[in-house]
Formats: sequence, structure tokens, C-alpha cells
Amino acid sequence: MLEPQYRIGYGEDAHRLEANRVLVLGGVPVPDAPRGAVAHSDGDVALHAIADALLSGLALGDIGQYFPDTDVTWRDLQSAVIVRRALELVLERGYAPVNVAVVVTLDAPKLGPRRAAIAEAVARVVGLPPSEVGVSFKTSEGLAPDHVQARASVLLRRSGDAD
Ligand code: C5P
Ligand code: MG
Repeated sequence: MLEPQYRIGYGEDAHRLEANRVLVLGGVPVPDAPRGAVAHSDGDVALHAIADALLSGLALGDIGQYFPDTDVTWRDLQSAVIVRRALELVLERGYAPVNVAVVVTLDAPKLGPRRAAIAEAVARVVGLPPSEVGVSFKTSEGLAPDHVQARASVLLRRSGDAD
């Protein structure tokens, strides 16, 4: 059976916020955030959601399978490494990302001023131009003030196809 030309992937991640940690989103530090993510790695929920989206598009499972948080090898791992590995698995199977959309839910601070930096950083990691990386922000309207969450979708296209 011929593989589909396009496949969609979706991923999510959330971490608890704690003082004395730097919040990192899409590889971009947010020093004005009063709290950062409690995590085994750098706690970058945006990159974790994107990595899961890449894997899910090809039904390759999730990042926990490739980077188990019980394995000390991955302690303090830069999340870009996780996304790169997920991307590699996608490329090996003959697909490449077309565009990425990521939504970060965080009550404070306002992240709008970081949008371009985050889009550029994510674009670099996934090998796309920043115009193909949509970055949106939401508050939880005070419903989840103690955590940061990200949701991401990725469109994958089978490479080598005629338009
Ligand atoms: O969650 P809510 O719809 O109230 O967010 C309103 C707007 O505030 C969002 O559309 C987004 O532009 C911005 N926002 C932000 N940084 C956040 C949360 C929301 O810039 N941490
Ligand atoms: Mg609203």
C-alpha cells in the first residue's frame, strides 16, 4: 500500500513551575519568568511537545521510549537534542516537516515579546524557515497557575513526491 503523502502529528507536554529555575521555551530562556519548569531535562515543554508531534505523525511512539526519564544519561539534556532525534527518525522514513504549530499555556509573564525568538529557535531545530513555525500563547485563566503546558502539531510530507 502506498504511504500517504501527508501525515499529521500532535504532541503535548506540561511541567510544574517552581522558583529558582529558568523557564526555557522552544530553546529560548525566559529570564523574566518568576518560576521555571521542574523537570528531569531542561523542562522545555514546547520542544517536548514538538518532538512528540514529530514521532506521532509516523506512529513512532513518544519521547519517553527514546529518552526514558529513569535513565541518568538524559539528565539535564538539552531538549533540542530530543527534537533532533525525533526529526532524524522522521527523515529516515522519508518524511519531512512542512510546518509546525505550537501553543504554550502560561499565566505569566506575557510571552508575546518572545514570539519571534521562539519561532526562530524552533525553526532552526526542525530545519524550517521561521515563517513555517506558528507560535501562540494562552493563559489558563488562572485555572492552572502552577504549570506550563505546550501543545504542538506538525504536518509531515513524504519527500521525493512531485507536486
Ligand atoms: O489566555 P488568553 O486568551 O486570555 O490570552 C490572551 C492573549 O494574551 C493571547 O492571545 C496571547 O496573545 C497573550 N498571552 C501572552 N503570554 C501568555 C499568555 C497569553 O502573550 N503567557
Ligand atoms: Mg481567552
